Amino acid sequence: MLPDYFGDMMSNLPWGNSKILTDDEFFNRTQEISNLTNLLKSTAENNAPNILVTGIRGVGKTVLLNRIKQLMDNNYLVIYMDFSISQAYQKNNMSFKGLLDFYYQKIIEEAHTRGLNTSNLHINKFFKTNNFKLREVVVARASDISIPIPIIGTERDLEKYVDFVFKLPQYIYNHNKDKIDGIIVIIDEFQIIKELNKYLDSFLWNFRGYVTEQRNVAYVLCGSMGLQDDLISKIAGQNGAFGGRMLTININPFSKETTKNYLNQKAMELEFTQDGFERFYKCTSGIPSYINIFARQLPANLELDEDTVINAFDDNISLIVTHLINEWNRLTLKEKDIIIALIDSPLKRIDLASKLNVKSGSLSVKLNKLQNLGLIHFVNGEYDISEKLLKRWLEIEYLKKGIYPYRI
Ligand SMILES: Nc1ncnc2c1ncn2[C@@H]1O[C@H](COP(=O)(O)OP(=O)(O)O)[C@@H](O)[C@H]1O
Ligand SMILES: [Mg+2]
Repeated sequence: MLPDYFGDMMSNLPWGNSKILTDDEFFNRTQEISNLTNLLKSTAENNAPNILVTGIRGVGKTVLLNRIKQLMDNNYLVIYMDFSISQAYQKNNMSFKGLLDFYYQKIIEEAHTRGLNTSNLHINKFFKTNNFKLREVVVARASDISIPIPIIGTERDLEKYVDFVFKLPQYIYNHNKDKIDGIIVIIDEFQIIKELNKYLDSFLWNFRGYVTEQRNVAYVLCGSMGLQDDLISKIAGQNGAFGGRMLTININPFSKETTKNYLNQKAMELEFTQDGFERFYKCTSGIPSYINIFARQLPANLELDEDTVINAFDDNISLIVTHLINEWNRLTLKEKDIIIALIDSPLKRIDLASKLNVKSGSLSVKLNKLQNLGLIHFVNGEYDISEKLLKRWLEIEYLKKGIYPYRI
């Protein structure tokens, strides 16, 4: 039988898809945590900030925000919601109204979970006086609370509903001042609003109008966005919806030093040579989700030199990039063609079109979608694959099978 400590050692590395980490699993980020909590504390002084948290997929935004929630839950009502699990998004039926329903439900649900009474908000009365047709939706399963959601008939109805929902957090605060110092609304996977397409601007500007005037409600918008993402300037740029009033915090991958300390503390059984570690860092780019997934696959108590690491990486790449393969499977054949055409080198749109034998104009929608998904980006006049590991996976599949994995 193995001594107990063997069992304990690997358990310190969280799974690569955990959304909430235990104290023991959560590593570092002390600077980010103190920045965020300090900013958010001005909410208690009627000076609630609005913050945009950016960073590439897997870097640790969600676990960080859940951490912030835990730390601030005592004095504040912290509402965490993930736009990507809204029905509107999941059912491929994105609409302003759908997101609004989700937003409204999450707010009520969290208020109930925290034991704040919402019956004094006169929600039902509001719907009644506006003659909304309603359907009941059950939120807050624990308490079996159900709330009415309006069925929207006219543009005018939608406007009233928008007004009601976006004002709700400040309204909840006003009725619960004696119990909380303020409200913090965290919206994760905010980049999903890109799929509102032509309604995107209207959503953002509407939202901004309400958000910036609420002195006791802080908003933290968070999205998997690289620094060159258009959405960042649409939100926080000088001419963006929030003008200069949105603070931006970018979460970076672990540095080489941090990664080394992390593995030394949490994965003591891994024995890297100097080169082996350098290669491990290069393969994972310091992205914590890749670090955790990959490190869990490496053999314990065996010298890990550069070649061992390279081979292990290529052997395990499908596991490491599972989430990217899921995205890949949802693409159409033509969208896959575009990515494959970009494997060898970045291309200008016109060259991409001629490589694919299509008219350049016919690519717009597809290129847009691939950009929204964060799979490609447009830099210096050329399109390029932004997910390097997707590219690597495609290359390896091609090497193994002589054909790209259109269907898997
Ligand atoms: N501070 C951290 N300490 C340990 N592991 C982390 C940390 N941050 C992220 N991870 C790992 O990375 C994974 C992805 O983190 P997540 O917050 O979901 O990324 P993002 O929201 O930026 O896409 C987590 O499930 C966890 O395995
Ligand atoms: Mg996330």
